[in-house]
Amino acid sequence: MRSDRSGGTHPGTAGARSAVAEPDPPRALAERQAAPSRVSGLLGDGEAEIELRGVSKRYRSRDRETLALTGIDLGIRRQEFVALVGQSGCGKTTMLRILAGLIQPTTGEVTVARRPLWHGDRRDDDALRKLGLVFQDAHLFPWYTVEDNIGLPLRLRDTGKAERRRRAHELCELVGLQGFEKALPRELSGGMRQRVAIARALSYAPEILLLDEPFGALDAMTRDKMNMELQRIAGATSATVVLVTHSIAEAVFLADRVVLLSARPGRIRSITEVDAPHPRALDVTAEPGFQQKVLALRAQLAEDEERTGDEPRFERAGGLSE
Ligand SMILES: Nc1ncnc2c1ncn2[C@@H]1O[C@H](COP(=O)(O)OP(=O)(O)O)[C@@H](O)[C@H]1O
Ligand SMILES: [Mg+2]
Repeated sequence: MRSDRSGGTHPGTAGARSAVAEPDPPRALAERQAAPSRVSGLLGDGEAEIELRGVSKRYRSRDRETLALTGIDLGIRRQEFVALVGQSGCGKTTMLRILAGLIQPTTGEVTVARRPLWHGDRRDDDALRKLGLVFQDAHLFPWYTVEDNIGLPLRLRDTGKAERRRRAHELCELVGLQGFEKALPRELSGGMRQRVAIARALSYAPEILLLDEPFGALDAMTRDKMNMELQRIAGATSATVVLVTHSIAEAVFLADRVVLLSARPGRIRSITEVDAPHPRALDVTAEPGFQQKVLALRAQLAEDEERTGDEPRFERAGGLSE
């Protein structure tokens, strides 16, 4: 039986820290207001397929600095489904971009299948080849057919046309788009466009699928349906999945572990294990255990919002019985 490590991480006495030596008042304030407690998500030796160790990210522009993430320790198992939740601006996208090798962390190390993702300023191509990415916007080429959009990553890898077509056909079936191979993106609904984006990310059979609020722009019913599909696709491809989502119910429904980030700078505030076996039917959302987890996570989030004085910005309505 896996344990539930959520809860029990309260803000404590961050205000007691002296501000005297702080060089930059706005930043010092933001850092003091953040939850002092953080949880290590590191796994045992050799257990992690992906690992972030001591990761932080500070954005620097001419007139300001933003510490987006700090002290992130997280291991993700092969074929695990991890959901990343937290307030808007807490660093979820930053963390996913770091996992994807799109940005380099300011401190710390990222490893994929025990290979460092970065060698100095250079990315490791072998590690990158394991990753597939899906964003909130499908980012399809409007003048390409569904088939050509799906096959684009393969084309960039010099795969021949016949093989691209075969693979696109197979993936259209996997994501429920059979018969739409020759359609243009403008002929598709929002949900269908996201299916194309998922199929495209899967085109070169990545071992790890990274999704940043992929269904955020969809209506609640389509979103529920897409969540069921994502669960099925994750199972069918045996991919390791990291999903950033605004919806706690969606996170608990889909994930093996839900990682909650605190308000900026993002730290891991809690990790909640959800051990119901996959595939899960929507009925599990009515179970007391499921609802308890959702409520506990919402309470942690509300505490964060109170501390940072933000208006609740988190989605409270929507699919999955919210
Ligand atoms: N390219 C960037 N340059 C400067 N600041 C950024 C950049 N990207 C994100 N940030 C800042 O970092 C923080 C975390 O952003 P982000 O990772 O997008 O959060 P989330 O996805 O949780 O909403 C925010 O304060 C945001 O304004
Ligand atoms: Mg984001």
